[in-house]
Amino acid sequence: MRNTIVAGNWKMNKSYSETVGFIQKLTEFLDSCNLTGVIPVICPPYVYLRDCINLSRKSKLIIAAQDVSSRVSGAYTGEVCAGMLSSIEVPYSLIGHSERREYHQETDEVIREKLIRLMDNGLIPVVCIGEKEEEREQGITSEVILKQLTTIFRDIELSDPYKIIIAYEPVWAIGTGKTATPEMAQEVHLLIRKWLIDNYATPFADNVSILYGGSIKPDNFEHLLDQPDIDGGLIGGASLRFDDYRDLLQIALKRKIPDKNSDT
Ligand code: PGA
Repeated sequence: MRNTIVAGNWKMNKSYSETVGFIQKLTEFLDSCNLTGVIPVICPPYVYLRDCINLSRKSKLIIAAQDVSSRVSGAYTGEVCAGMLSSIEVPYSLIGHSERREYHQETDEVIREKLIRLMDNGLIPVVCIGEKEEEREQGITSEVILKQLTTIFRDIELSDPYKIIIAYEPVWAIGTGKTATPEMAQEVHLLIRKWLIDNYATPFADNVSILYGGSIKPDNFEHLLDQPDIDGGLIGGASLRFDDYRDLLQIALKRKIPDKNSDT
C-alpha cells in the first residue's frame, strides 16, 4: 500500500517561536487523528530541526531537512552533511528542489551525490524533479523528466519502496499560483511510475509514493489526490499557515484509499 504524504516545505520562513508554536499545535491535532496510510511531514529550516524533533517525539509527525550536502564531511563552510542529520535523528531530506537548482546551480549529478549520501546514512530522500516553463512550452516535458531520473538514479539500487519518495514539481507552478491541472500532473506521475517499473520492479514501483508540488492549496488538493498516481503533496506557501496545512491533512485523511494502487 502506498502512503499519502503531506509534506510542508517551509523554506526560509518562520522565527523560532513561530516554529515551536506551530509544531506544538500540529502535534496536538495529530493526536486526535487516525493517521493510518497518511504521513505528515514538515521541513523547517536547519536551525530548528533538533527542537522540532524533540517536540514531535511522541507524535507521528516526521521532521525533514530541506537539503543536504553532497559531501561526506570536511572543510565545506556552511554545509550540513547527511551524517549530521542522521546523528540528530532526522529521518527524511528533500534534495533537488528547483530553488536549489536555480539559486545554487545544483545539477542532477550533484543531486545524485546527495541521494547517495542520504542513503548511506539511512535517511529517506525526497527527490524533487520537474520541468521549467520554457521546457513545457517546447513540448519536451517527458524528455526532461526522464533525463533527470536517469541521471539522478544512475547505478542506484533501490528495493524498499518506503525508503524513497519522488516529488514532481513543475518549476513554473512553484510559488506562482499556477497549478498543473490534475490531468497534467497525472500524466507526468504515470511517466515516472512507468520509468520505475522499467528500471526496477513492478511491486517496488507500485508502492513508491510520488508527490505533486506547486501551488497546492486546500481548494485544489482533493482533485490532485483523486489521480491514481498522485500520492500526496509537497507544499510550500500553504504549509506556513497552520489552518491550511491542517485542512490539507484532513483532505488526505478523508481521501485516503486503503489500496489506491490495487488496480494499477
Ligand atoms: P508552493 O511551493 O506550494 O509555494 O508552490 C512548493 C515547493 O516549493 O515545494
